[in-house]
Amino acid sequence: MEMKVAPEIGIESTDKRSITILGATGSVGCNTLELVNHEPDNFEVVALTGNKNVQLLIEQARQFSPELAVIADEALYGELKEGLSDTQVTAAAGEAALNEAADMKSDIVMAGIVGVAGLAPTLTAARRGAIVALANKETLVCAGDLFLAEIDRSGATLLPVDSEHNAIFQVFDFDHADSVDHLTLTASGGPFRTTSAAEMTEVTPAQAVAHPNWDMGAKISIDSATMMNKGLELIEAYYLFPVEERQIEILVHPQSVIHSMVNYKDGSVLAQLGPPDMRTPIAYALAWPNRMTTPGQKLDLAEIGQLTFEAPDFERFPALTLARDALITGGSLPTLLNAANEVAVRCFLEERIGFLDITRVTEDVLEKAPNQDPKSLEDISQCDLLARALAEEAVTALT
Ligand SMILES: NC(=O)c1ccc[n+]([C@@H]2O[C@H](COP(=O)([O-])OP(=O)(O)OC[C@H]3O[C@@H](n4cnc5c(N)ncnc54)[C@H](OP(=O)(O)O)[C@@H]3O)[C@@H](O)[C@H]2O)c1
Repeated sequence: MEMKVAPEIGIESTDKRSITILGATGSVGCNTLELVNHEPDNFEVVALTGNKNVQLLIEQARQFSPELAVIADEALYGELKEGLSDTQVTAAAGEAALNEAADMKSDIVMAGIVGVAGLAPTLTAARRGAIVALANKETLVCAGDLFLAEIDRSGATLLPVDSEHNAIFQVFDFDHADSVDHLTLTASGGPFRTTSAAEMTEVTPAQAVAHPNWDMGAKISIDSATMMNKGLELIEAYYLFPVEERQIEILVHPQSVIHSMVNYKDGSVLAQLGPPDMRTPIAYALAWPNRMTTPGQKLDLAEIGQLTFEAPDFERFPALTLARDALITGGSLPTLLNAANEVAVRCFLEERIGFLDITRVTEDVLEKAPNQDPKSLEDISQCDLLARALAEEAVTALT
């Protein structure tokens, strides 16, 4: 994929950047606003969106004065409107309003909604040629070809925010892509890195959500615990970088200091290091191609002392193989994988199924659903809905 530099789309490095944040009330969204607040003279906020956390959205809108604040859950529209009634901020609700936010003129759109709910507004941002700072990996997993075609057609700029992909983006030699042997995606291993499969049958949502290094939203935290997150990231990396599936390796690195690496043909390995703090990759995307300052602790390698590595355990973490197989087979399998996993994670959080059932439910859906060749957003939505229905059936069968 051709990466484009910001000045080509008319932003001088000294210009104030305007930004829309999809998923402002989430972990990525709050970190983004913290950075905006850290360098307030360099950014202006155009639109903010949330889903259920209307009080936080009101607070954010009052602090950052965007033109538009959108709550996806229409039942909360009255509360949002009331909370902003003495401000200049326009309140709106629902899916169409989310797209409207993504479509408003702004330099950067932070795609920070979780799950396939982020797909339509992220596509809208791509279609209008924005700089898309992509945290919502599900967009690439479910609709990689469609999304990249839109980026290409509109001349939009795609900047990876996921820490691993952001790391690779920083050290990948795009001018000499054929000098790359392979990519090494690092993985912390999650909270159950050393837990036996027998013990994993008993783990609770609270234990699974407690990531050892990263402070993130519930869904990605559970995905990290099953290692489906790394599987989704494998698919994400395949779409973001000019490499084949077989050129993407996964390496467990429990300290989360090396965020990923590019292994070159001559034996050189270039890595990006940093504290396990999402504000670093988010800042990279916000200021790119420049750098901005960030709050928070800087990396202290002497204090960390040791960096360790191990091979992933594909038996205890079968989600890794499921995701790689879905990528290899292609068609609608990555879309089905993502949707089934979203349902299974929600059901685990609701304590309807056990931890190991998450991957079982996903596998069941992949076995039952026909593989198709989705071309449009409508095709993708249909595959997504089918997988959700099958996943609900699989959950019911388990309970
Ligand atoms: N958190 C991280 O450190 C991190 C790191 C790398 C990649 N990512 C990726 O970034 C994305 C966001 O992750 P997160 O951890 O920030 O998630 P999160 O904390 O759960 O926040 C998700 C955001 O999406 C909104 N949202 C949820 N469902 C929605 C819907 N149906 N329609 C519209 N908005 C909806 C939420 O609104 P409410 O809160 O108002 O309900 C919230 O603003 C995910 O794709 C994740 O994989 C996250």
